[in-house]
Amino acid sequence: MCGIFAYLNYQVPRTRKEVFDTLVKGLQRLEYRGYDSAGIAVDSPGKTTNKDANSNICLIKKKGKVKALDEALYNGDSMDLQEELETHFGIAHTRWATHGEPSPINSHPHRSDKNNEFVVIHNGIITNYKELKKYLNSKGYKFESETDTEVIPKLIKYVYDNREKEHLSFSTLVERVIQQLEGAFALVFKSSHFPGEAVATRRGSPLLIGVRSQFELPSEHIPIQYNSARIQEGVQERNSRNKTDSVVEQQEVVGGKAVEYYFASDASAIIEHTNKVIYLEDDDIAAVIKGNLSLHRMNRQTGDSPSRAIQTLQMELQQIMKGNFEAFMQKEIFEQPESVVNTMRGRISFDGSKVILGGLKDHLKEIKRCRRLIMIGCGTSFHAAVATRQILEELTELPVMVELASDFLDRYTPVFRDDVCFFISQSGETADTLMALRYCKDRGALTVGITNTVGSSISRETDCGVHINAGPEIGVASTKAYTSQFVAIIMFGLMMSEDRISMQKRREEIIIGLKDLPDMIKKVLELDGKIKGIAQELYQQKSLLVMGRGFNYATCLEGALKIKEITYMHSEGILAGELKHGPLALIDKDMPVIMVIMRDACYTKCQNALQQVTARQGRPILICSEDDPETIKYAYQTIGLPHTVDCLQGVLSVIPLQLMSFHLAVLRGFDVDCPRNLAKSVTVE
Ligand code: F6R
Repeated sequence: MCGIFAYLNYQVPRTRKEVFDTLVKGLQRLEYRGYDSAGIAVDSPGKTTNKDANSNICLIKKKGKVKALDEALYNGDSMDLQEELETHFGIAHTRWATHGEPSPINSHPHRSDKNNEFVVIHNGIITNYKELKKYLNSKGYKFESETDTEVIPKLIKYVYDNREKEHLSFSTLVERVIQQLEGAFALVFKSSHFPGEAVATRRGSPLLIGVRSQFELPSEHIPIQYNSARIQEGVQERNSRNKTDSVVEQQEVVGGKAVEYYFASDASAIIEHTNKVIYLEDDDIAAVIKGNLSLHRMNRQTGDSPSRAIQTLQMELQQIMKGNFEAFMQKEIFEQPESVVNTMRGRISFDGSKVILGGLKDHLKEIKRCRRLIMIGCGTSFHAAVATRQILEELTELPVMVELASDFLDRYTPVFRDDVCFFISQSGETADTLMALRYCKDRGALTVGITNTVGSSISRETDCGVHINAGPEIGVASTKAYTSQFVAIIMFGLMMSEDRISMQKRREEIIIGLKDLPDMIKKVLELDGKIKGIAQELYQQKSLLVMGRGFNYATCLEGALKIKEITYMHSEGILAGELKHGPLALIDKDMPVIMVIMRDACYTKCQNALQQVTARQGRPILICSEDDPETIKYAYQTIGLPHTVDCLQGVLSVIPLQLMSFHLAVLRGFDVDCPRNLAKSVTVE
């Protein structure tokens, strides 16, 4: 979690205000990743006005959302906002607390010392911070925060202070620091010893660099320089690969003339400035000196590409703007007619009943030979696996396991070479899912990514995969990614069953269902007004139960998750078949209950559950087929849906619950896009 953003302008004059605005805007785009505190580090204004006369770098940090930081930047009277900065490097961070409560002192950037010689922003977790802190304490370095991150600026200062006569470049210092770090990180460093220079690196957390220049970029690929640094004496050597002593000096690669660089946790913070980006790989170190960007890393590893491509982002700025909607979540719910089309675009031939997922076709034979499929994810992405498990079992005739990534790892689940493991993740960065992926890879299984984020760790580390193309999802509560994951997994099932004669009829009805899906979603979205009315009746309740079974059980889990995460009401998704085994005790005239009853194989059983609820004076709100008078007559309220093929009905039945949670949260006065205690990208285990 946490969002990092940094901006370097080289020979492109910008006023201090423009620099602030760029940093703040960058953070606002990343705020969904964490929003309990924020901070920046910039060059100090002229020393006469600077409170700390020894420092060339000033830090401004605030508890609360980026807005609080923004206000603080303009409140100080020591800053000349019109001062022109020909070359400048500023770093910024929005935090989701893991170590230490939200407070200015625990906010990033963290610093090496009172003079801010080295400052750093960090996304991830340093797992060996206690040992490092102990070591640095023993060397006299004083810590001021409770964070894991603070060891990083202290450590770089320690390496710098102990360099003796050796000339060490900024990137070599960073390289020596990351050799000592365990855990996950994306880091950007600034230093008063290296004015106008930037160094960024990552391992396990995402980081990309946008480049903007009025000059032609010299190359589409940036070669990697493989180097290795000396290990700092006194700090334990962790990596036996790093033993040689030669330090490769920087070479000019990109830039050099008037140029701007943007460092960010994801592309949404960069796209308004440039669409030319470089995704860093684990252990890459990017350095900017005099406007030149160079990339280097420790010794070459097997399978490692010798260069990083400068890619062109396909994303449009408008995709990450709220437009006329009150919240990103609302916008994303209403985008679903288009986002599911984008998931299917170019992959389904509706006439020929053919499905081709380009990212899987070369592995299809191997997948067909497998012993079982395992779908692994967290939260909403796990629910997409639950929603599609039954149809996948039917179409592939293979056993399909669905697994919560954290539990899968806790159990040391047996995994074999002839298993095919799917990793479902909107962000492609969820730590538990990523760990489960590495676990399965180590055991020789074929790994398949189902992600929404191009260039994410999961999409890069899996053997093959499907990009769901839902477009950027900014609201913390996942909506359109769920329905696109759902559709993508069903398309996989269709691709697997193409040559099975016995499946043809079933395949055809599903493909027709997929073709009609966008129009049906539009019809469901027309129910928004009605759903808002129901939310007005419910919003003061403490609890809300959601029941269903079969193809719609996942809708209940997902609906309840949406409700609890953004409305803070207690909500539970209940398998209707389990009703008699406990949950029925909760039912009375006061307990709000939503029941999902569609015309499918579970219809009669769901009717029985409905009778059991109404017999206890329950007053169910029914999500059911619009033409089902038998069910509707028992409803306290009805949300009638168009009918589609059973295995796709869950795409439609979840939408009223997405809308319901949105309206409940607004009525209860909560920030829909930034629910308390949560963040979009869960990069910690
Ligand atoms: C809920 C939600 C989370 C995520 C979960 C996994 O609305 O968004 O439950 O689904 O944190 O995230 P990804 O899909 O990015 O792996």
